[in-house]
Amino acid sequence: MKNTVLTFQEAKEKGEKLTMLTAYDYSTAKLIDEAGINSILVGDSLGNVILGYENTISVTMEDMIHHSAAVARGASNAMVVTDMPFMSYQTSVYDAVVNAGRLIKEGHADAVKIEGGVNIKEQIKAIVETGIPVCGHVGLTPQSIKAFGGFKIQGRDEEAAMRIIEDAKAVEEAGAFCVVIEGVPSQVAVKITEQLSIPTIGIGASSACDGQVLVYQDMLGMFSDFTPKFVKKYANIGDIMKEAFVKFKEEVSAGVFPAKENEY
Ligand code: KIV
Repeated sequence: MKNTVLTFQEAKEKGEKLTMLTAYDYSTAKLIDEAGINSILVGDSLGNVILGYENTISVTMEDMIHHSAAVARGASNAMVVTDMPFMSYQTSVYDAVVNAGRLIKEGHADAVKIEGGVNIKEQIKAIVETGIPVCGHVGLTPQSIKAFGGFKIQGRDEEAAMRIIEDAKAVEEAGAFCVVIEGVPSQVAVKITEQLSIPTIGIGASSACDGQVLVYQDMLGMFSDFTPKFVKKYANIGDIMKEAFVKFKEEVSAGVFPAKENEY
């Protein structure tokens, strides 16, 4: 059955944990969907893991639409949540609504994700009022790394923690159906999860959250540029892929592949 905003709300009410994984293409989306994961996030992390940028700043609306549409074709049951890239919503409420609309109409997303809290409350409200579900994102928001001075855990002191809690509350008040909390001390995630009636989805934000999200290349050991502490490797697919690539090279060089059964 298709996961929707209702699935998310029911899970929070029943205390059932939600699962979300990133995907950026059709085949991976299909595998994640078949595994029964609640939601697929077409994250702007595609800037890092697909396009090879150092951060997510350069990702464009066209990048997001292209990958979102591919994922949507592979996701029958998982709810597709697509990231609004840097500068697609910060500039004005009008830009936010137009660009969220494009992710739904052209990217075939079920919902959009947007980074920030108090500062973008009006944007979230306006998008929700058009009938587009919004997932918030607070804490270590990667589009703000230049302001943070790098990928640094946020909310370490009392004042910073309070600001993140206020951000999460603003996201809920604006009408978001869930909120991602990234890179904060566990106590901050505990407080937000207790105080919000919408589900919290954590990444580097402890088991207190109502659900968890990971970048699939991280959890499968396919991305080695950097591995944050919050990542758990569920498999070493990167090594398996490399072994297969080497074997292919060896067999082609030795004339073993293609074999008779591979010929017409
Ligand atoms: O872009 C992304 O993949 C994300 C997750 C890390 C939450 O925003």
